[in-house]
Amino acid sequence: MRIHVSFTPAEPIDAPLAVVIDVLRATSTITQALTSGYTRVLCCTEIEEAKALAAEHGPAVLGGERKCVHIPGFDFGNSPREYLGEPAAPTLVLSTTNGTRLLVTAAAHSERVLVASLLNLEALIAAVHADGADDLAILCAGVRGELCLDDAYVAGRIAELLDGDYTDSATAAIRLARSFASAEDGLSVSQSARNLIDANLAEDISYCARESILPVVPRLVGTVGTGVEVTL
Ligand code: MLT
Repeated sequence: MRIHVSFTPAEPIDAPLAVVIDVLRATSTITQALTSGYTRVLCCTEIEEAKALAAEHGPAVLGGERKCVHIPGFDFGNSPREYLGEPAAPTLVLSTTNGTRLLVTAAAHSERVLVASLLNLEALIAAVHADGADDLAILCAGVRGELCLDDAYVAGRIAELLDGDYTDSATAAIRLARSFASAEDGLSVSQSARNLIDANLAEDISYCARESILPVVPRLVGTVGTGVEVTL
């Protein structure tokens, strides 16, 4: 399997299989919400789109953030810790600054799209092996178009566990990941982590740094209105 890494959303790669990472926090949150029992997550880019999706495709709750913070009028923010316990509705409609946007983009470039975090690392590796694609695009959400070390760290962890035919971008991600002593170190040096600390959400960094505790792999299954539908 040839393995490519795209460090920013400006470089989407056409490949039959894509893995999307926004470890702090959109893809960790999607993984946690589906594990807790939400039937599906509808991901979209804009706040107004999210409201329209929830109204048309409910019963649904609204979740997401801008500048890391709960969007006024939404039911939940974008902390995976808010999605523990009983789901508040069958459908979660999620709009975040970078992660849900990249999921929408990935759907246009790959037939199959998987949602990656550290929480589901082991299950994700098994799902990529089971897919058997010749080409894999590992896509990092970054922050506002720029490379972000938290997603690059996870891209490197995924690439090294897959042991494929690496492009230079994949080799760069692996070397970067190996330069950190732990997942928490890899996530904590990033701009995403600094943004969470500034928003008094530092606990989410440790939460999202835990590896392979959720044995699920969310995947895109189609579009609903202007959003993409993610289920297990
Ligand atoms: C995003 O999509 O930009 C992030 O998940 C940001 C956040 O969690 O606050």
